[in-house]
Amino acid sequence: MTDGSLTDEFYEQARKRLKERLDRKRYEHSLSVSDMAVRLARAYGVDERKARLAGLLHDWDKDYSDDEARARARDLGVKANPVVLDSMPRLLHGPTAALDLAREYPEIGDDVLQAIARHTSAEVGMTDLDMIVYTADAIEPLRPFDGMAAIRDRIGEASLEELFLATFQHVIAFLVEKKRRMHPDTVSVWNYYVERSRDVRDRPQHADPRKGSK
Ligand SMILES: [Fe+2]
Ligand SMILES: [Fe+2]
Repeated sequence: MTDGSLTDEFYEQARKRLKERLDRKRYEHSLSVSDMAVRLARAYGVDERKARLAGLLHDWDKDYSDDEARARARDLGVKANPVVLDSMPRLLHGPTAALDLAREYPEIGDDVLQAIARHTSAEVGMTDLDMIVYTADAIEPLRPFDGMAAIRDRIGEASLEELFLATFQHVIAFLVEKKRRMHPDTVSVWNYYVERSRDVRDRPQHADPRKGSK
């Protein structure tokens, strides 16, 4: 059975709908995220059609005001952290987009919807597709983030998780620098991925015969 949401026709009609929903800049950013997600998917062996669709639609709900975002979260039944709902409701544009798209387009797969839901704050235990959409959103070349070219240069050299963690680190540093608020789960996500990166770095090199045993 072919997945109807992964065809060129579906992508085209979703793109047209998106264009009506977002302002021009955000629409162009969405196309750029879609392209970058495909590039990452190709480099890391992930389904490119899923990456391009999730990248395209990740900001489906971005152009709402605080009040609209709160109302939308309530109407769609998002289980939101009360702090986020109260003071940072626009961070819910990932989860509300995923729920709205599931209703609007039942043919879109859960893995694509999850990547869309997780692109705003990231989560512990991201899939490869989740990491691709999060990373593509931050490093696509139209985005006015300093320092992302260095991360783009590491595509295919660093592992996907290293690339994601470098991106996440950059985003946190940016938020601190600009004195912006963060999603309350950010520390948990940071600790989880830093711990995993330590585990990889500190793993003993059992297979290296030059080290011998004394
Ligand atoms: Fe977003
Ligand atoms: Fe975005």
